[in-house]
Amino acid sequence: MKAVVFADTRSVEVRDVPDAVIEEPDDVVVRITSSAICGTDLHMYDGRTGATPGLVLGHEPLGVVQQVGPSVETVRTGDRVVIPTHVYCGVCVNCARGLSAACLRVRPGSFGAAYGYAGMGPYRGAQAELLRVPFADANCVKVPGEPGDELEDDLVLLADAFVTGWHATELAQVSAGATVAVFGAGAIGLLAAYSALLKGAAEVYVVDRVTERLDKAGEIGAVPVDLRRGDPVEQIRELRRAVGPEPGEEAMRGVQVGIDAVGFQARDRLEPDVENPTQVIGDLARLINPAGHLGIAGVFAEKDLHPAPQGHADGRLTVPWATLFSKGVSVRFGRTHDRRYTVLLRDLVLSGRARPSVVVTHHGRLEDAPELFAAFDRRADGVVKAVLRP
Ligand SMILES: NC(=O)c1ccc[n+]([C@@H]2O[C@H](COP(=O)([O-])OP(=O)(O)OC[C@H]3O[C@@H](n4cnc5c(N)ncnc54)[C@H](O)[C@@H]3O)[C@@H](O)[C@H]2O)c1
Ligand SMILES: [Zn+2]
Ligand SMILES: [Zn+2]
Repeated sequence: MKAVVFADTRSVEVRDVPDAVIEEPDDVVVRITSSAICGTDLHMYDGRTGATPGLVLGHEPLGVVQQVGPSVETVRTGDRVVIPTHVYCGVCVNCARGLSAACLRVRPGSFGAAYGYAGMGPYRGAQAELLRVPFADANCVKVPGEPGDELEDDLVLLADAFVTGWHATELAQVSAGATVAVFGAGAIGLLAAYSALLKGAAEVYVVDRVTERLDKAGEIGAVPVDLRRGDPVEQIRELRRAVGPEPGEEAMRGVQVGIDAVGFQARDRLEPDVENPTQVIGDLARLINPAGHLGIAGVFAEKDLHPAPQGHADGRLTVPWATLFSKGVSVRFGRTHDRRYTVLLRDLVLSGRARPSVVVTHHGRLEDAPELFAAFDRRADGVVKAVLRP
């Protein structure tokens, strides 16, 4: 089968690799119809998180079940399925509590696993013609319709981007009426803003420096904040002045909720060619209101081969802890417990209440991956979210 593999820093290739096959009785093999490229793939593409050359990339698949192992009970050949990024068993103590990204049975001696992901288990990636799905009864989420129908792009985003955007709003406890600032207008930040609006947030600001991405933020009903125009904290405080707060509430001129949808490869605001992994947490600590909530969905890597000046090879950072303590801010982190939200968000899509595909800007064949990765990595040519159709 053909697959997108990591070849070297800033180089992916489409290669022939052995077909995905049934290895365990509870596996299925899925023929992929759509497979999205994610900002997480770029951390590997940039040579940062220790991907091994030859690694098949991709963790955002939608497809049709082609082959079913003998002990699979609920999935049949021909089922159209979306496969959540984080592989999980469905029955360990963490899975039973809905903490699927911390499954205890998918990575011996550790916890949590994902497809096509350096350091996250042995599972081959989904930017390929075929994907082996372990623990198939747990990991296949059935969706109606036919491959290539009008919901193809909405459904593929249920594998990761929409659920992670939603997860960010859960981490940050977004409620109706909330004021929200999202840093990063990639697919994750945009879909976090979109999720916040679905939940009834009153004001949602989205911070970035890329014109097409800021335009998308406006398109979904958020207020774009352009880093190129100066300190985003001051810009949001100024915008908030127009709508509130009431006299006597000036200390609340920030936001109640902050979301980091950038991660450790954040750019320095004053020197955007240089990374600064503490830029976003620093800005959010200044912006957040007393007793506010922060949700950190951007990835922070425990292994960074080329850390930025403020960074460290093991991911240690110096952050304004005292400011967060003094304000009484709650900070919650982490990978998406996808399976908690996949069905809920699938049904929002099927009912027509959500159209996450608003963030999809590009399509290609597997062969187009090298070009799409290069443009996405430069955040150029309007690429926000690209979907490969093998
Ligand atoms: N928690 C999870 O389970 C999970 C799942 C998927 C993705 N992620 C992570 O979420 C992050 C975003 O993913 P994406 O696909 O949207 O990536 P992306 O690279 O397309 O988006 C990141 C955006 O951040 C912007 N940015 C950079 N520095 C900034 C700064 N200082 N302030 C504001 N914006 C800044 C960039 O211009 C870019 O538009 C990545 O770190 C990715 O690995 C986490
Ligand atoms: Zn992803
Ligand atoms: Zn488990």
